[in-house]
Amino acid sequence: MCGIIAYIGEKNSVQILMEGLKRLEYRGYDSCGLAVMAEGAPYCVKTTGRIINLEKKLANVNISSRMGIAHTRWATHGKPSEENAHPHFNKDHTIFVIHNGIIENYAILKRELMKLGHPFSSETDTEVIAHLIEEFYDGELLPAVLKCLDKITGTFGLAVFHAEEPDQIVLARRGSPLVIGLGRNEMLAASDVNAILRHTDKVIYLDDDEVAVIRRDGFQIMSLTQETVYRTPEKVEWQIADTEKDGYPHYMLKEIFEQPETVLNAFRGRIIPEEGVSKLGGLEPVIDQLKHMKRLIVVACGTSYHAGLLGQYMFEKMTDVDVDVEIASEFRYRNVHPHDGTVVLAISQSGETADSIAALREARRKGALTLGMVNTVGSTIARETVAGIYNHAGPEIGVASTKIFTSQVVILALFALLLGRYQKLSMTDGAGIIRAIQQLPEQISHILDRADHIRAIAQKYYKYNSFLFIGRMCNYPTALEGALKLKEISYIHAEGYPAGELKHGPIALLSPHCPVVAVCPQDSMYEKTISNIKEVEARSANIIAVCTEGDDKLTEITRDIIEVPATVEFLNPVLCNVPLQLLAYYCALYRGCEIDKPRNLAKSVTVE
Ligand code: G6P
Repeated sequence: MCGIIAYIGEKNSVQILMEGLKRLEYRGYDSCGLAVMAEGAPYCVKTTGRIINLEKKLANVNISSRMGIAHTRWATHGKPSEENAHPHFNKDHTIFVIHNGIIENYAILKRELMKLGHPFSSETDTEVIAHLIEEFYDGELLPAVLKCLDKITGTFGLAVFHAEEPDQIVLARRGSPLVIGLGRNEMLAASDVNAILRHTDKVIYLDDDEVAVIRRDGFQIMSLTQETVYRTPEKVEWQIADTEKDGYPHYMLKEIFEQPETVLNAFRGRIIPEEGVSKLGGLEPVIDQLKHMKRLIVVACGTSYHAGLLGQYMFEKMTDVDVDVEIASEFRYRNVHPHDGTVVLAISQSGETADSIAALREARRKGALTLGMVNTVGSTIARETVAGIYNHAGPEIGVASTKIFTSQVVILALFALLLGRYQKLSMTDGAGIIRAIQQLPEQISHILDRADHIRAIAQKYYKYNSFLFIGRMCNYPTALEGALKLKEISYIHAEGYPAGELKHGPIALLSPHCPVVAVCPQDSMYEKTISNIKEVEARSANIIAVCTEGDDKLTEITRDIIEVPATVEFLNPVLCNVPLQLLAYYCALYRGCEIDKPRNLAKSVTVE
């Protein structure tokens, strides 16, 4: 999704902006551009496609510049083209704007501005901002930006400069993240902290409806009504090294291999084995409300939604809480009435997913207590919820989520355990669950040690164009997530199904041309799933089975077996998911796909 980077200071801004753009690449984009102040005159360059195209355009240009703005665009209004790429500008090329979000009333504004003689050169909603600022400009940029913001509706993360006021960049936020980076004799701003981490770890996250002015030697934050806002800078806990590939060919592979560590980080310091319970510091402020809660609604998108589905099984097993798991983009438009004491939990890696934020706001409006589970400290969901839990899994750069998924599942287990111990779970059972959680990092390492075996299976199957993934109970979400991973990065059509549902439709697809990945560890549904696998076998489809180590029955049915260590029933998805991530990764590798930046996908979806 769109990315913003802005710089003002003493260094070569082009270099800093280009480097920042590369750090935003993982979010997904289709065009990019930058505008800088170069020796008294602005210079703007844009391109479709990758940042390398921008680099080529800049290769023979010699610019000396100490300030500028740059952007990666993910098309919403208007196709990916050079004209539609940001920065956008006014007619005499003095005002330059980059924007994340959507200006909902742009069409009306555009018509009015055109009548006033403003020539438009793009199909975007963003361009109206540049012309509107020009319309209000009377020698000072900030008041003109404020007047412009007053006119527009929609969402924005905005960075603007005026060629006649090169000592400042104006920023504004409503619904699209923006963070200011505080350096020594330099200031940066970005939509994503990764873009500025190389220069500073001192940051300030802007809140909605705040405007900021950054200068080489200072900054000022204010509300839209110009009241000064005082905010203490925060320290980013990630290191720049966390955002690098560390010798792996792809971020996704690195992140898959980080899982022993990220799963450990998910429960480190959060368990009390002798009492068979967990402790989640972020939930302490609301623990009295949570102890006896009866209903939990989880809202999430994509992979985080699949983690939520797994949470449902855990809460059923350990607590008296009724859990509904809702796709955030649907929930936000439903008319759900949270009864007294309903808690709504948003699960989101980025903490910035527009649909999840909207679902959360809707729940809050109706009186629910809102919680967040996010990986990105300081993100919108983290700040807008009453309490929450961080993943502490480090940055996830690969667009397809892997390590955050397993981290989310483990944290959901800790959450269910925490409440379960106030409700129906015994200390002995709680202690057993903790022991199983503690074993996960080593068990995951064991699976990763056999990555070559999964690679060999991928090599055998990567040319197939359609896959079915099946599983029952808590391995149904595992199947959904396995299928999602495969389609996201290898573009192979894949569907996840509850194995018992095969006979109601998908069985029609079975043939030697459609391999079936069966998630079938030895749990309470084992025999039932075996029966479903037999149905598959009878239709001559190839079967890849993910099963518990030492399973003899499945070895009789198929040679393509992926074994995982034994664990408690509802933690099987953590272990079974790891080989499915690898399967997707290697299939994509053999198909020559761009694994970390799959087509059309964005890491953080900040528009509806
Ligand atoms: C995008 C990403 C997915 C992610 C989903 C939800 O679609 O490509 O990997 O699962 O957003 O993101 P969130 O940050 O809310 O977990």
